[in-house]
Amino acid sequence: MSGKFYIETVGCQMNVLDSELAMSELVKAGYTPAVSKRNADVILFNTCSVRQHAEDKVYSAIGRLKHWKESKPDGILGVMGCMAQKDQDIIFRRAPHVDLVIGPGQLHRLADAVLSIAEDRKPRLEVSLNRIRRPQDEVKASFEQYDPQRFAPMRDNPFQAMVRIMFGCNKFCSYCIVPNVRGPEQSRSPAEIEAEIRQLAEQGCVEMTLIGQTVNSYRFEDAGKILTLADLLERIHPIEKIRRIRFVTSYPVGMDDRLLGTIRDLPKVMPFIHIPAQSGSDTVLQRMRRHYTIEEYRRLIDRIKTAIPGVAVTSDFIVGFCGETDREFEETMSLVKDCRFKNSFIFKYSTRPGTKAAELYPDDVPETVKKERNNRLLELQNGISAELNREFVGKKVEILVEGISKNAVKNLIRIGSGAAETASEETVQLTGRTPCDRIVVFDGPPRLAGRIITVNVVETAPFTLFGEREPQ
Ligand code: SAH
Ligand code: SF4
Ligand code: F3S
Repeated sequence: MSGKFYIETVGCQMNVLDSELAMSELVKAGYTPAVSKRNADVILFNTCSVRQHAEDKVYSAIGRLKHWKESKPDGILGVMGCMAQKDQDIIFRRAPHVDLVIGPGQLHRLADAVLSIAEDRKPRLEVSLNRIRRPQDEVKASFEQYDPQRFAPMRDNPFQAMVRIMFGCNKFCSYCIVPNVRGPEQSRSPAEIEAEIRQLAEQGCVEMTLIGQTVNSYRFEDAGKILTLADLLERIHPIEKIRRIRFVTSYPVGMDDRLLGTIRDLPKVMPFIHIPAQSGSDTVLQRMRRHYTIEEYRRLIDRIKTAIPGVAVTSDFIVGFCGETDREFEETMSLVKDCRFKNSFIFKYSTRPGTKAAELYPDDVPETVKKERNNRLLELQNGISAELNREFVGKKVEILVEGISKNAVKNLIRIGSGAAETASEETVQLTGRTPCDRIVVFDGPPRLAGRIITVNVVETAPFTLFGEREPQ
């Protein structure tokens, strides 16, 4: 089979990784990547259902492709990812020009499905079982692992890779659709994870990010012993070519002292923890079905900061959750003030049909109030991010150079010189990341990409440090 494919990805790291893997599989099946949708024969949307807005955008993008489909009747239009699992055949009803709907637990069938549609033109629906009212084992089996062989050129950056350590989620926070669309929590075996990491290291990867919805819940039973995230970190740490290890996302329950000690003691494990609080109010946390109190969360942040020198902690917040009062929101403001996160992602609550919150509570905070709370919290957080960054002025930081900065790429294109053609000694604007995940912009030759170097921080902004290279 020949032809070109294009995958448009939205959503979290899980989707970014799935798209990378799906691209490898399609290449193996004989397809080649297209540079844009316009010249593709197969267009796939890898979708997210976490908020309504993400879904609306994909539905309108699919709608806009009606003409593409009319002008290219053998073109294949597919919807993969979380919205495929959530909406299933509704997608065919809303957009009859869609050929394929494939959920995240069925991606192992993707290449086969595309090939069969190319052959017989029959639409295909590949989804996992609905979690509710089905035996757990059957549901688990229907969300199949998807971690095929990696193919380095499919990654944006050859030096960094994400490695899935677990699928699904069992937390069922009342607002969240992820447990429904990604299925039950399942941890991958340490042997398999290690083999994948070794392969990535051979391909030249120096930084691994272990991903899962709640990575600190990682549990794998091996010969009667339960292995945890701390065991996994210890197991992969000795892999020689790996220089940095990260993991996201952590849940605020189950960060035990052993795990914190492991993060502190293993030099390749980076001092960075993304551990979303979601709200600063106990009553909201109860309605959200997060299983901790604010007192416990604050104590945890203190423990993390005491245990791990130089650690950066980041969080997520939902504002305007069902019934959130002014006072409850002010408690979130206080938490952000006190915890001094490196940064926070702030979201306006979006009701998700099929979740407990949608069933139990009205979405009663007006949009204008959600917006105002979002802006206030963001402003507070950005001020803190700026202050924390200012503390870096005059300091040396070790960074992994990621490549040419997006701005510099834009300029190079404007002056008609491709990034790849830039002579290796010519100085351009590069970006890198500190151990605590801060972005550093500095000038240097592109050949530094993938190396760990030291720079002096000379200036800062809320989201960026500006550095200068040490004289060689
Ligand atoms: N597993 C991770 C992240 C899940 S989704 C965790 O537990 O933290 C990423 C973020 O989206 C969440 O942390 C939450 O802040 C936000 N989110 C999830 N459901 C949402 C909803 N219904 N409305 C608005 N934001 C939501
Ligand atoms: Fe969603 Fe909660 Fe699971 Fe995170 S832990 S994915 S917010 S249900
Ligand atoms: Fe979205 Fe699915 Fe991730 S709903 S946030 S892409 S797990």
